[in-house]
Amino acid sequence: FSLKKHNTFGVDVSAKYFAVVSSVDELLHVLKNHQQSNINDQPLFLGGGSNILLTKDFNGLVIQLNLKGITEGIIDDNTVLVTAQAGENWHQFVQYCLNKNYGGLENLSLIPGNVGTSPMQNIGAYGVEIKDRFVSCKVLNLETLEIENFTNKECKFGYRESFFKREGKGKYVILEVAFRLTTKNHSVKTEYGAISSELENLGIQNPTIQDVSKAVIAIRQSKLPDPKLIGNAGSFFKNPSIPLVQFNDLKQKFENIPGYPNGDLVKVPAGWLIEQCGWKGKQIGNVASHKLQALVIINATGEASGKEIFDFSTMIIDSVKEKFGIELEREVNII
Ligand code: EPU
Repeated sequence: FSLKKHNTFGVDVSAKYFAVVSSVDELLHVLKNHQQSNINDQPLFLGGGSNILLTKDFNGLVIQLNLKGITEGIIDDNTVLVTAQAGENWHQFVQYCLNKNYGGLENLSLIPGNVGTSPMQNIGAYGVEIKDRFVSCKVLNLETLEIENFTNKECKFGYRESFFKREGKGKYVILEVAFRLTTKNHSVKTEYGAISSELENLGIQNPTIQDVSKAVIAIRQSKLPDPKLIGNAGSFFKNPSIPLVQFNDLKQKFENIPGYPNGDLVKVPAGWLIEQCGWKGKQIGNVASHKLQALVIINATGEASGKEIFDFSTMIIDSVKEKFGIELEREVNII
């Protein structure tokens, strides 16, 4: 079974078995069958396939979670709890909330992927991370096949991190996620430079949550490649945080180096480091660094293999390490 259409890099690898499940019962059924058969390997769970790089054929079972549905419950006069099933498309879910005038997720417009994978790496953009709106999620424990609930705290969210990406890796499947959103007194977040200038361009002074979403969509469309047209998985690396001392040393040598202080650490945009090493827009074989955003690696010809993309990312890591002494960490999940 070809997975080409099921990963946004558009890498053509195959899975030995493939199942689509639309309910928790179906999921349990597939998992129980799988346990009874001779296939010992862990199944691979796929959401939107927007944050993975498949580097070889998968000799086991791939399960696509297609659980759908959104429910709402009033918390108080200004707050609503909105719960979405794992298989809901993230951007469509954000738009659903905006159509109902529920505020809180507008900065996260147009992020590829599904609701169920959003807590994995605590998706974030333009000054908001889902941990800021997340209440809890319902998960299936793959060892006991029991359903469990995880609170915000239990998810141990960090920058592009969560319990599910670390200690809990491979042990749980996220089934649904609940968010706390505002219904009227919205507090819009427009501090991120690109948003304020986009709103200014649009001539908007007191932006609504819908205006913020429009601005975010415009910014993303202006520099991030649409995975439907060019295979990619968004930012390929995390933005590294380095000690202040190291940053100050680098500043002596590279006076324009950007950095955002955060306690004793400074976060440096990986896109800048990669661009300085001459990678922006550069293509080797079928793979390239995006010409408008160096942090995004693209399947430039549509024919790239996962290994080619992986090797390209290694070359970037090596040259950033050599020039700046900083070791970039991949953000995309490598399978
Ligand atoms: N920059 C360059 N050259 C480049 C790209 C970026 O010099 O080619 C520098 C510029 O100084 C720019 C700075 O990097 O001001 C930041 O760039 P940008 O605003 O595009 O954000 P980013 O740090 O590259 C992060 C997230 C994105 C998210 C944006 C907006 C990570 C790994 N990436 O990118 O998330 O959309 O901020 O908040 O944190 C994703 O995770 O897939 C993703 C797209």
